[in-house]
Amino acid sequence: MFKTLQSVMRFRPIEFDGDLRRLRRAVNVDGLRRIARQRLPRSVFNYIDGGADDELTMVRNQQGFEQIEFRPRVLCNIQEIDTSTTLLGKRLPLPLVFSPTGMTRAVTPGGEMDVARSTARSEIPYVLSTLSTCSIEEVAQGSSGPHWFQVYVWKDRVLVKELLDRAAQAGYEAIVITVDTTVLGNRERDLRSGFTVPPKLGLDTILDGILHPSWTWRFVRSKPILFSNVVGKSVADGNDPASLSQYLKDQFDSSISWKDIEWFQQHWNGPILIKGIQSVEDARLAAKAGIPAIIVSNHGGRQLDGAPPAIELIEPIADAVGSDLEILCDGGIRRGSDIAKAIALGARACMIGRPYLYGLATGGERGVDFTIRLLQEDLARTLALTGCPSVQEIGRDLVRIRP
Ligand SMILES: Cc1cc2nc3c(=O)[nH]c(=O)nc-3n(C[C@H](O)[C@H](O)[C@H](O)COP(=O)(O)O)c2cc1C
Repeated sequence: MFKTLQSVMRFRPIEFDGDLRRLRRAVNVDGLRRIARQRLPRSVFNYIDGGADDELTMVRNQQGFEQIEFRPRVLCNIQEIDTSTTLLGKRLPLPLVFSPTGMTRAVTPGGEMDVARSTARSEIPYVLSTLSTCSIEEVAQGSSGPHWFQVYVWKDRVLVKELLDRAAQAGYEAIVITVDTTVLGNRERDLRSGFTVPPKLGLDTILDGILHPSWTWRFVRSKPILFSNVVGKSVADGNDPASLSQYLKDQFDSSISWKDIEWFQQHWNGPILIKGIQSVEDARLAAKAGIPAIIVSNHGGRQLDGAPPAIELIEPIADAVGSDLEILCDGGIRRGSDIAKAIALGARACMIGRPYLYGLATGGERGVDFTIRLLQEDLARTLALTGCPSVQEIGRDLVRIRP
């Protein structure tokens, strides 16, 4: 009997590297999320995972993809699969861009640096947030890019201009102006946990820290988490425990309009993308303003709850302005098949936020590599199974909306 067992069974080698062990267990983005939830203090997990109000838009972002089905073709010779595309005139190995996420060092001490090194290896553009916890220069010096810089329109235009100049000097290729944050969304999970930078210590935070010793150990040994791009320049750069909500409330310019886009056009010599377009009307105005690419986004459901899922807006926006500008989208993309669906409906490329943060929490820089690999392999498999040999050949007839 032992001989029979020996002939059919092989022992799986024991994986001593904890990060690799966890990543192997994750299998997909949802698995990464589950592990991130175990590894991060509750307030940090809720900061990255949560949305606004009742989180309806956040949930529907993902559900929107469930409404789209493929129309697979067979006998198409898919021996060679090509996942590459072009965006803003440059070749990308994958139709994927990393969305900006503020305060990434709350997840791992490496934070934005871990993400930037990983995206640089895969030649995926990484959009650094204004509210990053590693500076514009640190990221540019520590990774080869491509880097884009996300700007919030702050009242202090001298400071905004200075950030643009620093990004240009550091070789950032494009700017992304986020326009859906004239006021901060009502993120109730953060309100409940009092999420602040730096964290305010209370009994609950201390208990949370004790329950997540590996995060706490790394956190206390690393440099403080600050809004690195504005350290010393802003009233609340994270040096005093101003709540994020108060900080942003003070900084955001709620008077922004299309006139301000002209201001950016005068002060940035390169591609400008507008992030947060949520209607055909605004997509038309962006095209009229000469914007080369828009990002159809509801901020991952973190701003206006009740905003439509980005995936549902792609087709009408592509029909209206698809020949005038390039369309990117984010919100709820969790699989390579989601990328294929968005492209079929008219997007040029997709963006992700939370998925790479879950990967980062699960396995640091290698966790981000893992997330990219998951999406790339999944996209390639989807192309193979739908009989479409390349991203370039994805057309509207690849999908249908479920009746
Ligand atoms: C933790 C976190 C921080 C974010 N910070 C920013 C930011 O600083 N600027 C911005 O334009 N969008 C920000 N976003 C929104 C993302 O850029 C993106 O639109 C969203 O995450 C996409 O949805 P997904 O997480 O479902 O992929 C943030 C999102 C998360 C989850």
